Amino acid sequence: MLNPIERSNQLPFLQPPMKPVLKHIFLLKREYAQLPFFDFLRDERIPARDRLAFFPCMASFIMSFGDLNRLVLREEPTEDPYLKMINAHTYEDDHHWPWYLEDYAKLGHDGTRQAPGETLRFLYSDATIQNRLLAHRLAHLIWGAEPVVRLAIIEAIEETGNVLFELTSRIASQYQKDTGVELRYCGEFHFNLESGHAMNSDHAELALIALDDAQRRDALERVDKVYAWFTAWTHELLAFARAAKPQAEVA
Ligand SMILES: [Fe+2]
Ligand SMILES: [Fe+2]
Repeated sequence: MLNPIERSNQLPFLQPPMKPVLKHIFLLKREYAQLPFFDFLRDERIPARDRLAFFPCMASFIMSFGDLNRLVLREEPTEDPYLKMINAHTYEDDHHWPWYLEDYAKLGHDGTRQAPGETLRFLYSDATIQNRLLAHRLAHLIWGAEPVVRLAIIEAIEETGNVLFELTSRIASQYQKDTGVELRYCGEFHFNLESGHAMNSDHAELALIALDDAQRRDALERVDKVYAWFTAWTHELLAFARAAKPQAEVA
Protein backbone atom coordinates (compact mmCIF):
# COMPACT_ATOMS: atom_id res chain seq x y z
CA MET A 1 0.00 0.00 0.00
CA LEU A 2 1.21 3.51 -0.79
CA ASN A 3 2.05 5.63 2.20
CA PRO A 4 0.21 8.97 2.46
CA ILE A 5 3.10 10.92 0.99
CA GLU A 6 3.46 8.59 -1.99
CA ARG A 7 -0.27 8.75 -2.54
CA SER A 8 -0.21 12.55 -2.48
CA ASN A 9 2.74 12.58 -4.85
CA GLN A 10 0.65 10.70 -7.39
CA LEU A 11 -1.54 13.80 -7.58
CA PRO A 12 1.02 16.50 -8.40
CA PHE A 13 -1.61 18.61 -10.14
CA LEU A 14 -3.43 19.19 -6.87
CA GLN A 15 -2.55 21.88 -4.37
CA PRO A 16 -1.30 19.94 -1.29
CA PRO A 17 -4.33 20.47 0.88
CA MET A 18 -2.96 19.93 4.42
CA LYS A 19 -0.81 23.01 3.90
CA PRO A 20 -3.53 25.63 4.59
CA VAL A 21 -4.50 23.70 7.72
CA LEU A 22 -0.91 23.84 8.96
CA LYS A 23 -0.78 27.57 8.16
CA HIS A 24 -3.93 28.03 10.21
CA ILE A 25 -2.41 26.08 13.10
CA PHE A 26 0.66 28.33 13.08
CA LEU A 27 -1.44 31.47 12.91
CA LEU A 28 -3.40 30.36 15.96
CA LYS A 29 -0.19 29.32 17.67
CA ARG A 30 1.14 32.87 17.36
CA GLU A 31 -2.02 34.23 19.01
CA TYR A 32 -1.93 31.48 21.65
CA ALA A 33 1.64 32.44 22.62
CA GLN A 34 0.40 35.95 23.48
CA LEU A 35 -2.06 34.80 26.17
CA PRO A 36 -1.64 36.27 29.67
CA PHE A 37 -0.52 32.92 31.10
CA PHE A 38 2.50 32.90 28.80
CA ASP A 39 3.28 36.54 29.65
CA PHE A 40 3.29 35.41 33.27
CA LEU A 41 5.72 32.59 32.44
CA ARG A 42 7.97 35.07 30.62
CA ASP A 43 8.01 37.55 33.51
CA GLU A 44 11.53 37.26 34.89
CA ARG A 45 10.69 39.55 37.80
CA ILE A 46 8.76 36.59 39.26
CA PRO A 47 10.98 33.89 40.82
CA ALA A 48 11.19 30.69 38.76
CA ARG A 49 9.58 28.65 41.52
CA ASP A 50 6.56 30.98 41.65
CA ARG A 51 6.14 30.96 37.88
CA LEU A 52 5.82 27.19 38.19
CA ALA A 53 3.10 27.50 40.84
CA PHE A 54 0.51 26.36 38.27
CA PHE A 55 2.11 22.90 38.25
CA PRO A 56 -0.29 21.00 40.58
CA CYS A 57 -3.30 22.46 38.77
CA MET A 58 -2.57 20.60 35.55
CA ALA A 59 -2.20 17.17 37.18
CA SER A 60 -5.39 15.63 35.85
CA PHE A 61 -4.81 16.74 32.28
CA ILE A 62 -1.16 15.68 32.17
CA MET A 63 -2.00 12.27 33.66
CA SER A 64 -4.90 11.93 31.21
CA PHE A 65 -2.66 12.80 28.29
CA GLY A 66 -0.99 9.41 28.54
CA ASP A 67 -4.44 7.81 28.34
CA LEU A 68 -5.43 9.99 25.40
CA ASN A 69 -2.48 8.52 23.55
CA ARG A 70 -2.85 4.90 24.67
CA LEU A 71 -6.61 4.57 24.79
CA VAL A 72 -8.06 7.21 22.46
CA LEU A 73 -5.58 7.95 19.67
CA ARG A 74 -4.03 4.50 19.36
CA GLU A 75 -6.03 2.03 17.31
CA GLU A 76 -4.41 -1.34 16.75
CA PRO A 77 -4.24 -3.35 14.64
CA THR A 78 -4.82 -1.15 11.61
CA GLU A 79 -4.04 -1.04 7.91
CA ASP A 80 -4.95 2.65 7.68
CA PRO A 81 -1.77 4.58 6.79
CA TYR A 82 -2.80 7.62 8.83
CA LEU A 83 -3.66 5.55 11.88
CA LYS A 84 -0.26 3.90 11.57
CA MET A 85 1.37 7.35 11.70
CA ILE A 86 -0.81 8.25 14.67
CA ASN A 87 -0.03 5.00 16.47
CA ALA A 88 3.70 5.58 16.06
CA HIS A 89 3.21 9.04 17.52
CA THR A 90 1.31 7.70 20.54
CA TYR A 91 4.29 5.53 21.48
CA GLU A 92 6.41 8.66 21.68
CA ASP A 93 3.90 10.62 23.71
CA ASP A 94 2.21 8.17 26.08
CA HIS A 95 4.87 7.92 28.76
CA HIS A 96 5.70 11.51 29.72
CA TRP A 97 3.54 11.65 32.83
CA PRO A 98 6.13 9.92 35.08
CA TRP A 99 8.42 12.92 34.42
CA TYR A 100 5.55 15.16 35.49
CA LEU A 101 5.33 13.24 38.77
CA GLU A 102 9.11 13.46 39.12
CA ASP A 103 9.00 17.28 38.83
CA TYR A 104 5.94 17.34 41.07
CA ALA A 105 8.06 15.82 43.83
CA LYS A 106 11.12 17.94 43.01
CA LEU A 107 9.02 21.10 43.29
CA GLY A 108 8.07 20.03 46.81
CA HIS A 109 4.44 19.08 46.27
CA ASP A 110 4.93 15.55 47.61
CA GLY A 111 5.91 17.13 50.89
CA THR A 112 2.32 18.30 51.48
CA ARG A 113 0.81 15.85 53.93
CA GLN A 114 -2.90 15.42 53.43
CA ALA A 115 -5.45 12.60 53.44
CA PRO A 116 -5.87 10.87 50.05
CA GLY A 117 -9.47 12.06 50.08
CA GLU A 118 -8.30 15.65 50.21
CA THR A 119 -6.13 15.06 47.16
CA LEU A 120 -9.13 13.62 45.32
CA ARG A 121 -11.23 16.58 46.43
CA PHE A 122 -8.63 18.92 44.93
CA LEU A 123 -8.36 16.98 41.65
CA TYR A 124 -12.15 17.19 41.22
CA SER A 125 -12.52 20.74 42.55
CA ASP A 126 -13.70 23.82 40.70
CA ALA A 127 -10.09 25.01 40.55
CA THR A 128 -9.28 22.29 37.99
CA ILE A 129 -12.44 22.10 35.86
CA GLN A 130 -10.75 23.13 32.59
CA ASN A 131 -8.07 20.52 33.13
CA ARG A 132 -10.58 17.71 33.50
CA LEU A 133 -12.76 19.05 30.72
CA LEU A 134 -9.86 19.37 28.29
CA ALA A 135 -9.17 15.64 28.33
CA HIS A 136 -12.86 14.81 27.75
CA ARG A 137 -13.16 17.40 25.02
CA LEU A 138 -10.09 16.16 23.16
CA ALA A 139 -11.28 12.54 23.37
CA HIS A 140 -14.63 13.55 21.90
CA LEU A 141 -12.93 15.61 19.19
CA ILE A 142 -10.61 12.76 18.22
CA TRP A 143 -13.26 10.03 18.20
CA GLY A 144 -15.49 12.17 16.01
CA ALA A 145 -12.81 12.72 13.35
CA GLU A 146 -11.54 10.51 10.58
CA PRO A 147 -7.85 9.53 10.76
CA VAL A 148 -6.48 12.14 8.36
CA VAL A 149 -8.24 14.90 10.31
CA ARG A 150 -6.85 13.46 13.53
CA LEU A 151 -3.38 14.27 12.18
CA ALA A 152 -4.34 17.95 12.17
CA ILE A 153 -5.75 17.70 15.70
CA ILE A 154 -2.51 16.13 16.94
CA GLU A 155 -0.44 18.78 15.23
CA ALA A 156 -2.48 21.55 16.89
CA ILE A 157 -2.11 19.89 20.31
CA GLU A 158 1.64 19.52 19.76
CA GLU A 159 2.01 23.20 18.89
CA THR A 160 0.22 24.27 22.07
CA GLY A 161 2.69 22.06 23.93
CA ASN A 162 5.56 23.65 22.06
CA VAL A 163 4.54 27.12 23.31
CA LEU A 164 4.31 25.89 26.90
CA PHE A 165 7.43 23.77 27.06
CA GLU A 166 9.62 26.31 25.34
CA LEU A 167 8.81 28.69 28.20
CA THR A 168 8.92 26.14 31.03
CA SER A 169 12.32 24.94 29.84
CA ARG A 170 13.65 28.47 30.27
CA ILE A 171 12.12 28.63 33.75
CA ALA A 172 13.53 25.19 34.55
CA SER A 173 17.05 26.28 33.69
CA GLN A 174 16.63 29.30 35.97
CA TYR A 175 15.27 26.96 38.66
CA GLN A 176 18.31 24.73 38.25
CA LYS A 177 20.60 27.74 38.67
CA ASP A 178 18.68 28.75 41.82
CA THR A 179 18.44 25.33 43.42
CA GLY A 180 20.70 22.85 41.62
CA VAL A 181 17.64 20.69 40.87
CA GLU A 182 17.02 19.54 37.30
CA LEU A 183 13.37 19.48 36.26
CA ARG A 184 12.93 16.97 33.45
CA TYR A 185 9.25 17.45 32.58
CA CYS A 186 9.45 21.25 32.62
CA GLY A 187 12.95 21.36 31.25
CA GLU A 188 15.01 20.77 28.15
CA PHE A 189 14.88 16.99 28.50
CA HIS A 190 11.15 16.96 27.67
CA PHE A 191 11.24 19.96 25.33
CA ASN A 192 13.91 18.36 23.16
CA LEU A 193 11.96 15.12 22.91
CA GLU A 194 8.78 17.01 22.01
CA SER A 195 10.62 19.03 19.36
CA GLY A 196 11.90 15.83 17.77
CA HIS A 197 8.48 14.15 17.46
CA ALA A 198 7.67 12.24 14.31
CA MET A 199 4.50 14.28 13.91
CA ASN A 200 5.84 17.76 14.36
CA SER A 201 9.44 17.40 13.28
CA ASP A 202 8.54 17.15 9.61
CA HIS A 203 5.95 19.76 8.76
CA ALA A 204 6.90 19.61 5.09
CA GLU A 205 5.86 15.97 4.99
CA LEU A 206 2.60 16.66 6.81
CA ALA A 207 1.82 19.57 4.48
CA LEU A 208 1.83 17.21 1.51
CA ILE A 209 -0.92 14.96 2.82
CA ALA A 210 -4.08 15.17 0.74
CA LEU A 211 -7.40 16.32 2.16
CA ASP A 212 -10.62 16.84 0.26
CA ASP A 213 -12.69 20.00 0.81
CA ALA A 214 -14.93 18.51 3.47
CA GLN A 215 -11.96 17.07 5.37
CA ARG A 216 -10.13 20.38 5.20
CA ARG A 217 -13.14 22.27 6.54
CA ASP A 218 -13.55 19.72 9.30
CA ALA A 219 -9.85 19.90 10.17
CA LEU A 220 -9.95 23.71 10.38
CA GLU A 221 -13.00 23.62 12.67
CA ARG A 222 -11.44 21.03 14.94
CA VAL A 223 -8.14 22.92 15.11
CA ASP A 224 -10.08 26.04 16.18
CA LYS A 225 -11.63 24.00 18.99
CA VAL A 226 -8.26 22.69 20.14
CA TYR A 227 -6.96 26.23 20.54
CA ALA A 228 -10.15 27.53 22.16
CA TRP A 229 -10.08 24.77 24.76
CA PHE A 230 -6.37 25.08 25.46
CA THR A 231 -6.90 28.83 25.83
CA ALA A 232 -9.50 28.22 28.56
CA TRP A 233 -7.00 25.80 30.13
CA THR A 234 -4.27 28.48 30.28
CA HIS A 235 -6.65 30.88 32.04
CA GLU A 236 -7.26 28.26 34.71
CA LEU A 237 -3.53 27.62 35.16
CA LEU A 238 -2.84 31.34 35.47
CA ALA A 239 -5.62 31.85 38.02
CA PHE A 240 -4.22 28.97 40.05
CA ALA A 241 -0.64 30.26 39.90
CA ARG A 242 -1.75 33.75 40.94
CA ALA A 243 -3.79 32.40 43.85
CA ALA A 244 -0.92 30.21 45.10
CA LYS A 245 1.10 31.61 47.95
CA PRO A 246 4.62 32.64 46.92
CA GLN A 247 6.93 29.83 48.04
CA ALA A 248 9.09 32.30 49.95
CA GLU A 249 6.10 32.99 52.23
CA VAL A 250 5.38 29.27 52.67
CA ALA A 251 8.96 28.46 53.70
FE1 LIG B 1 5.17 15.25 26.30
FE1 LIG C 1 4.06 15.41 22.09
